[in-house]
Amino acid sequence: MKSDDQAEKSRRLVSAAVALEPQQDGQTEQSAEKTLRPAFLEEYVGQKKAKENLSLFMEAARQRGDALDHVLLAGPPGLGKTTLAHIVAHEMGTQIHCVTGPNVEKKGDLAAILSNLQPRDVLFIDEIHRLQKTIEEVLYGAMEDFKLDLIIGQGPAARTLRIDLPKFTLVGATTRTGLLSSPLRDRFGVQLRLEFYPVEELEKIVRRSAGLLGIQVEESGANEIAKRSRGTPRIANRLLKRVRDFAQVRLKKAAGVVVDRDTARAALALFEVDERGLDPMDRRLLATIIEKFDGGPVGIETLSSALGEERDTLEDVYEPYLIQEGFLQRTPRGRTATRLAYEHLGIGWEGKNVAQDPLL
Ligand SMILES: Nc1ncnc2c1ncn2[C@@H]1O[C@H](COP(=O)(O)OP(=O)(O)O)[C@@H](O)[C@H]1O
Ligand SMILES: [Mg+2]
Repeated sequence: MKSDDQAEKSRRLVSAAVALEPQQDGQTEQSAEKTLRPAFLEEYVGQKKAKENLSLFMEAARQRGDALDHVLLAGPPGLGKTTLAHIVAHEMGTQIHCVTGPNVEKKGDLAAILSNLQPRDVLFIDEIHRLQKTIEEVLYGAMEDFKLDLIIGQGPAARTLRIDLPKFTLVGATTRTGLLSSPLRDRFGVQLRLEFYPVEELEKIVRRSAGLLGIQVEESGANEIAKRSRGTPRIANRLLKRVRDFAQVRLKKAAGVVVDRDTARAALALFEVDERGLDPMDRRLLATIIEKFDGGPVGIETLSSALGEERDTLEDVYEPYLIQEGFLQRTPRGRTATRLAYEHLGIGWEGKNVAQDPLL
């Protein structure tokens, strides 16, 4: 994603992308996230299965004094992949080195990073599916044999130089495992899929973050924010802060603001986040399928141009939640709006599709 694009996306309150521009409190969301990030597995809310697996493998590696096997983390933006990568380093008592797939431009960049690692260190590659093919190939040997083959010089004078690397742990994050080439995917011994969080877990996250940020929030307020966070901790934290801003300005006092259900509701209505956590863009996506394409099926490319959104963004950011919540279906012939989508938008479903498809 280009950075202009990213800035544009991050303006959406419910976008799961990290907001890059400074917020009202003068901090960027990126720096604010560091304060809210749990440092150890114990503080990491939910994702029971992923946590159990990780904790078992880390314990085993620690007992052997060995590096943890390479870990692949998959899941939509904002669910806690970067956080888990940092937790792995903390729990293993090692350093983490972070890079983003598309930013590794030359083989030499990767070689420099790899040869600077200490034994058992974590190399975190975010958006690993966007790594260049040639760089990915360098990674294979590094992951498998902890060796780096470099070609020095050109033409007949060229020779290979083999460098031994310390045993390290590669933690890769991706929004969809399907985007990864299979040779790369196969080299990860541990593959974990993060799921959207249920409301109770998001409530816990909201209360935890409120505590860290010094925001007073009632249980009803935390519940309202959790329900509208699209199953995503990053969104829950963002809504919490924006609701706090709203309360502070509306109630005209900086101190002693308490976020209760009414405040949360009023703030979120103002921000156009509805009771299912859908924002104007989500609703526009569903309305477009219904109104322009008769409810679908419509191909993703067509939908992408109708909405003026990149296909990747639709597939990674918007669709997963809409599908999980049953607003949208992905069929071999394209995307279809479900009855729930019609009802949610207040558009009549009566008689819809009955003629074409008796099963719907
Ligand atoms: N399980 C969790 N428990 C508590 N907070 C979480 C959890 N997962 C994510 N967060 C919060 O959400 C924010 C976004 O998480 P992050 O790891 O950056 O997501 P991702 O890398 O998957 O996009 C973090 O700042 C963190 O505070
Ligand atoms: Mg991340």
